[in-house]
Amino acid sequence: MKKNLQIAIDGPAGAGKSTIAKAIARQLGFFYVDTGAMYRAIAYKALRLNIPLEQEEEIAVMARQTEIALEHSAARRVFCDGLDVTEAIRSPEVSRSVSIIAAYPEVRERLVELQRQEAGQGGVVMDGRDIGTYVLPDADLKVFLTASSEERARRRWLELQQAGKELSLAEVHRDMDARDHHDQQRAVFPLVPASDAILLDTTSLRIEEIVDRILSLFNNKLEKD
Ligand code: DC
Repeated sequence: MKKNLQIAIDGPAGAGKSTIAKAIARQLGFFYVDTGAMYRAIAYKALRLNIPLEQEEEIAVMARQTEIALEHSAARRVFCDGLDVTEAIRSPEVSRSVSIIAAYPEVRERLVELQRQEAGQGGVVMDGRDIGTYVLPDADLKVFLTASSEERARRRWLELQQAGKELSLAEVHRDMDARDHHDQQRAVFPLVPASDAILLDTTSLRIEEIVDRILSLFNNKLEKD
């Protein structure tokens, strides 16, 4: 039986992963799976339940008992135990906490299981940090997006401004660098490009240009296979 087609998009915060992955999924009629939203949902729940973030075992147990659902319709709402957490998981507090819980192997194990289940449903574009290296090692196309740290911070800051969050650019830059450092240094599936990933620097490219480039890479790959 032929497996579902898969595109893996990895990279640091603010590299444009989710905007690009959504546009590609829309054009191909594939599912889009935002794996960062799953880690954020667990961080959000830990904060809401006042579980100290360093309590690895307690957080792992909680993660195993948590239901996370990603809506595939245009609204793409995120549910945690039936509760709509779409906006709540984007708060600066969650952004600051999430890489701590994302470093816990048992949390990752639980979420990777959910991510692979999602990929079993049909053609998929999945974005995250370890999709090409671990979650979908046989993906048909692997892309690793990068951009300068200044440009990534500027994009995040604009997003937060649009959502009515008044943080300074310097604060966003500092938080983002701390998170990237943590994601790159962790022992389990750190943020690194897969050996067969295509690296794309998005610093000075428009979204449409990147989307077109990835779509043509994907079509070429399918023609060859
Ligand atoms: O993509 P994002 O910024 O929403 O991700 C939130 C955090 O989750 C980020 O700090 C790293 C972590 N993450 C991860 O470790 N592995 C993934 N596949 C996706 C996200």
